Amino acid sequence: FQINRSVEQPVVIMLTAFVFVVALVSQTAARYTANWTSLDARPLPSWYDEAKLGIFIHWGVFSVPGFVNEWFWWYWQGQQPPDQKCVNYMSKNYPPGFSYPQFAPQFHAQFFDPGEWADIFKASGAKYVVLTAKHHEGFTNWGSPYSWNWNSVDTGPHRDLVQDLGDAVRSRSLHYGLYNSLYEWFHPLYLMDKKNGFKTQVFVMDKLLPELYNMVVRYKPDVIWSDGDWEAPDTYWNSTEFLAWLYSDSPVKDTVVTNDRWGAGCPCKHGGFYNCKDKYTPGQLPTHKWEKCTSVDKLSWGYRRDMRISELMDLPTIIKDLVQTVALGGNYLLNVGPTPDGMIPTVFEERLRGVGAWLEINGEAIYASKPWRVQAENSTIPIWYTSKGTTVYAILTAKPPKPTVQLLEPKTSPITKVTLLGNPKPLSWSPIQPNAGLVILLPELPYIPGQAWTLRLDNIQ
Ligand SMILES: *[C@@H]1O[C@H](CO)[C@@H](O)[C@H](O)[C@H]1NC(C)=O
Ligand SMILES: *[C@@H]1O[C@H](CO)[C@@H](O)[C@H](O)[C@H]1NC(C)=O
Ligand SMILES: *[C@@H]1O[C@H](CO)[C@@H](O)[C@H](O)[C@H]1NC(C)=O
Repeated sequence: FQINRSVEQPVVIMLTAFVFVVALVSQTAARYTANWTSLDARPLPSWYDEAKLGIFIHWGVFSVPGFVNEWFWWYWQGQQPPDQKCVNYMSKNYPPGFSYPQFAPQFHAQFFDPGEWADIFKASGAKYVVLTAKHHEGFTNWGSPYSWNWNSVDTGPHRDLVQDLGDAVRSRSLHYGLYNSLYEWFHPLYLMDKKNGFKTQVFVMDKLLPELYNMVVRYKPDVIWSDGDWEAPDTYWNSTEFLAWLYSDSPVKDTVVTNDRWGAGCPCKHGGFYNCKDKYTPGQLPTHKWEKCTSVDKLSWGYRRDMRISELMDLPTIIKDLVQTVALGGNYLLNVGPTPDGMIPTVFEERLRGVGAWLEINGEAIYASKPWRVQAENSTIPIWYTSKGTTVYAILTAKPPKPTVQLLEPKTSPITKVTLLGNPKPLSWSPIQPNAGLVILLPELPYIPGQAWTLRLDNIQ
């Protein structure tokens, strides 16, 4: 039958208004309570899963000694017994009585050009950048009013590093995140709470939380990458109270993502995306969004002057790791450690630009992809799968020994089409069985940085 126009029109207008009001309500109604049931149910903002690749930066006073790794202070003066290598290094190279805070004035950052860094990160193909706003040493890379004389504005660079890098990163349309350590190795209030078996929360109330709230309001990070949580339970850190505010009332409530390091027992269980352990890779497809954080320098996150080329991941290793991570549904957060004078070591820059060159050709199989029904197969060479609807990407992480490659998992149909990314011509293929598997005739594989090639298969089940 026909609706009279004069009746239809107001209905449409009313419906539109209704949808609009519902949209408004559902946005403002996203409120969370300070318990894990409520917080864990928050959907992760979609930008994060689509981004796939981020750059992690460990930069702080630890970059000045630049020896062993960013835990230097702890190895030297915290752990019992101390690391003899660090003790000897200090006694050989520094005057007696030299204290760790005396490294701060040498954190000059005199060559730090945030635009240059952001250009490198952009060229890497990463979609987000995470900077250490404060590592376990407690030094803040911004003028925290709660970290008097132990921050980058009062001493060292005399500069708000968090702000300056953030401006440069965001002007290149990259998301900006901040790493924040909950605990501080040597903070007297923390040590006091620890001595009290974490029954008191003086450090949390007077230092940690005021600083963290202030950091969020000032810099509006898209990621809060929490760390240093493991000595105390989430109830000591007031993690659920902080996250309820972050998700319900903070200026970044609709965009921010966080990880899972919010107290002993939380990693891999509570929070936003899961990091689980450093450099963690699951054996099979997890049900929860996760991120692998790892470092180009296999032995350190912070810059160290005793770094050797054999201790770095080479580009094919990085690409394989990225591909495996994305195929298993993860994001890849790749770390570099800048020097105390503000340079990204050129060898790291080369790696990052290499990743970007690989993504220039193969990024279509990475960004905004979803894990496929099958994540890997290994009939001849290791192959990882990603997907976008009925398009499936098979990423070959080694050169096949023959000019053909066999894929056993994809189910083809007569309209299936196969191409090699970076090569416009469709490839010939034939089914192995009427409904499962195919053999693809490969062209001469071009040299590409990263040594991994992507086959795009259209109309696949
Ligand atoms: C957690 O918060 C929700 C409200 O979002 C509430 O319904 C639930 O009872 C709370 N759970 C606990 C264990 O407090
Ligand atoms: C910390 O948690 C306690 C217990 O839930 C709560 O009473 C207090 O208001 C919280 N403080 C902050 C600053 O989050
Ligand atoms: C593929 O096989 C090789 C050799 O057996 C093995 O080392 C590798 O872990 C396998 N890769 C996958 C993705 O199963």
